Amino acid sequence: MRVFVTGATGYVGSAVVRELMDAGHQVLGLVRSDAAADSLKQTGAAVHRGDLTDLDSLRAGAADADGVVHAAFNNVGPDTDFAASCRIELDAVGALGEALAGSDRPLVVTSGTGFLPQGRLATEEDAADPQSFLAIRSGMEGLALSFAARGVRVSLLRLAPSVHSDADKRGFLPTLVRIARSTGVSAYPGEGANRWPGVHCLDAARLYRLALESAPAGSRLHAVGEEGVPLREIAEVIGRHLGVPTVSLTGDQAEQHFDWIAHFVTLDNPTSNALTRQRLGWNPVHPALIPDLEAGHYFQA
Ligand SMILES: NC(=O)c1ccc[n+]([C@@H]2O[C@H](COP(=O)([O-])OP(=O)(O)OC[C@H]3O[C@@H](n4cnc5c(N)ncnc54)[C@H](OP(=O)(O)O)[C@@H]3O)[C@@H](O)[C@H]2O)c1
Repeated sequence: MRVFVTGATGYVGSAVVRELMDAGHQVLGLVRSDAAADSLKQTGAAVHRGDLTDLDSLRAGAADADGVVHAAFNNVGPDTDFAASCRIELDAVGALGEALAGSDRPLVVTSGTGFLPQGRLATEEDAADPQSFLAIRSGMEGLALSFAARGVRVSLLRLAPSVHSDADKRGFLPTLVRIARSTGVSAYPGEGANRWPGVHCLDAARLYRLALESAPAGSRLHAVGEEGVPLREIAEVIGRHLGVPTVSLTGDQAEQHFDWIAHFVTLDNPTSNALTRQRLGWNPVHPALIPDLEAGHYFQA
């Protein structure tokens, strides 16, 4: 299959590109700079110049492919206008879906388990929670799924909040390590009993490929290696590796300490992957979150 991949030079997208090419697919990657074009060419993938904000460039990429993986996002961070990034994402998903309408070609759209109802085990049957602080982004799920009725084999791939691996330099785990290093304490919110699912980046990449190859139209898939790891456990491993105390923080203290990730750190997001495994024969084989954190690569300077 010739696959148009947005975000092909990003952390998740570059793992997807490798996975697709190793399985014999051809990749056409969206890039918006010379540096990204050079790095993508080195993988053997073809380059498609454009931008998420240039909808014609997305339509042209989709028209030139047998399927699309959408993994680009102007990412969450301290200096990002999150609402603007979500609007760009919504328009981009709309343009990709329109370009594939009536073709039965696959479109795999990146989403997140953080959008799901909190405090109980969420499954693939669950829709995004309209009350979530992330609802500004999760509205995109409904738009993406609407293309199932319009002849697109669309699937949503919901990533765990931590997509971990030794190549993870900017995700939530490296951010927690940086905060602990700079403040001298490794903190968790309240009792620290709230849970995050995790997924190894290479397992997630395999799920993107399986979704592209065979997910039925309208599938909601969970890229989740384990249902949920208590935040306290994560903080304890970070504290031990850095040699700093592990402490509980509440209210304003936690807001201040965790800064822009405070909302994410309090997520209680246990998530099942049972239907994903059953439907696509996906089986995560790479290290789970705590063993990957214990491996030490997150603590190298
Ligand atoms: N990393 C995680 O732990 C994690 C966890 C949950 C969900 N996710 C989701 O997974 C997706 C990918 O995340 P990531 O960690 O791979 O992010 P990343 O490393 O920052 O990569 C983002 C990619 O999107 C591209 N991009 C951003 N804005 C663009 C624009 N306007 N036009 C064209 N390309 C643009 C970037 O291109 P440049 O190379 O040119 O910047 C890059 O290739 C996002 O939807 C993210 O929310 C990630």
